[in-house]
Amino acid sequence: MNILRRNMASLCRLSPLCRNAAPQQLPNQLSVFIARTNTTEAKPAKTKYGPMKDEDRIFTNLYGRHDWGIKGAKARGDWYKTKEIILKGHEWILKEITTSGLRGRGGAGFPTGMKWGFMNKPDDGRPKYLVVNADEGEPGTCKDREIMRHDPHKLVEGCLVAGRSMGARAAYIYIRGEFYNEASNLQIAINEAYKDGLIGKNACGSGYDFDVYVHRGAGAYICGEETSLIESLEGKAGKPRLKPPFPADVGVFGCPTTVANVETVAVAPLFNISGHVNNPTTVEEEMSIPLRELIERHAGGVIGGWDNLLAVIPGGSSVPLIPKSICDDVMMDFDALIQVQSGLGTAAIIVMNKSADVVRCIARLIEFYKHESCGQCTPCREGTGWMLKIMNRFITGNARPDEIDMLYELSKQIEGHTICALGDGAAWPVQGLIRHFRPELERRMKEHEQKQAARA
Ligand SMILES: Cc1cc2nc3c(=O)[nH]c(=O)nc-3n(C[C@H](O)[C@H](O)[C@H](O)COP(=O)(O)O)c2cc1C
Ligand code: SF4
Repeated sequence: MNILRRNMASLCRLSPLCRNAAPQQLPNQLSVFIARTNTTEAKPAKTKYGPMKDEDRIFTNLYGRHDWGIKGAKARGDWYKTKEIILKGHEWILKEITTSGLRGRGGAGFPTGMKWGFMNKPDDGRPKYLVVNADEGEPGTCKDREIMRHDPHKLVEGCLVAGRSMGARAAYIYIRGEFYNEASNLQIAINEAYKDGLIGKNACGSGYDFDVYVHRGAGAYICGEETSLIESLEGKAGKPRLKPPFPADVGVFGCPTTVANVETVAVAPLFNISGHVNNPTTVEEEMSIPLRELIERHAGGVIGGWDNLLAVIPGGSSVPLIPKSICDDVMMDFDALIQVQSGLGTAAIIVMNKSADVVRCIARLIEFYKHESCGQCTPCREGTGWMLKIMNRFITGNARPDEIDMLYELSKQIEGHTICALGDGAAWPVQGLIRHFRPELERRMKEHEQKQAARA
């Protein structure tokens, strides 16, 4: 992991995908990188992550305090030497992305270099496309919208470089319908980039032709799933496709396609923090920063203090919650969270303090998944409804203790047995609840039983 992190830092200093330095700082950075990679001197292993230094920030307009238009974007280092990077060719860009260790920010955390590399197959005459997933429907998650409304040029420039790495002819940015202002800012940024010759024919004067389109969806969560998104982009109902074939073989309009998340293309580690914290926020921080430090430094801490923390869902609503005892020292990265049987997901942290009814919270999430299920697979269509019925009884304790294992088993019958990962996303919150809050479920059942007995 340390090597990956070191590479990520090098990439962040080099690539336009994650450029944060002022233009005048950049020319020396390539030579710094080459000097670094040629040295035999062993570097001490990094053991402390975060807080991020201000000079390392990529999104210097995350809170919209400055001009998000092309003038402001260029002053912050966007569109600087993009032509040179395009001229370096797809293999060089892919190598940089691969060595950076970048992993997708759409939720699954798949290695980005490998995924984009799937597009580099012998030319069969079909055009290739990059599709940017700006659907952002995951509960608790609101990071991509900050990029699109406050730093849209980072995304447009990222589209060009990512598109070049896979030989794509155009990028389609599929944005959820409710993001009206974001779609509008994005379209203005695209228009500015066309006017400046940065995209379109001979993009940036590189000889490479590349178009960028915005497509507005209608706001269904399932349209964030990549094959469902492709269907919707083609004008059909947003229902996930069976795979194979994978989008890299048959994607949008029957052509090779990569679907990538907005943040992956614009590149920076963004965290959302919401729920029972004093200052809910979206913040750019170093990967692997301890969860506690992230909450206390950037979100003003848990309401009522750290000892008042009950549990955290660390990656959007689709990953299992973790109780305070794990939150005390877990690090915020893909591997550390998998080790504690959760996940980084969309890095959207939902904090629950002791005033939260954790059973009701998870039941509410299951209601969401039931509502958003597209209905194609029986385990998801029926299973989410069954889980919701049971969960609603668990809220009041009107259930038998052996139903806890039954619910767990039911969630296991959904997990991994569906066309898309919505089924998994519905199963995991329930599993997390049972793993960490079984005594609370049993307590409610006992209390309910005693009340019933007293009434009889
Ligand atoms: C039900 C469901 C909803 C999803 N919603 C989104 C979304 O809103 N945005 C997103 O980027 N990925 C979403 N994904 C993940 C995408 O299918 C896909 O993995 C992702 O866009 C790939 O981008 P990445 O490689 O940059 O992570 C969703 C997946 C599922 C199963
Ligand atoms: S898992 Fe659910 S949402 Fe996904 S395809 Fe199946 S029924 Fe539709």
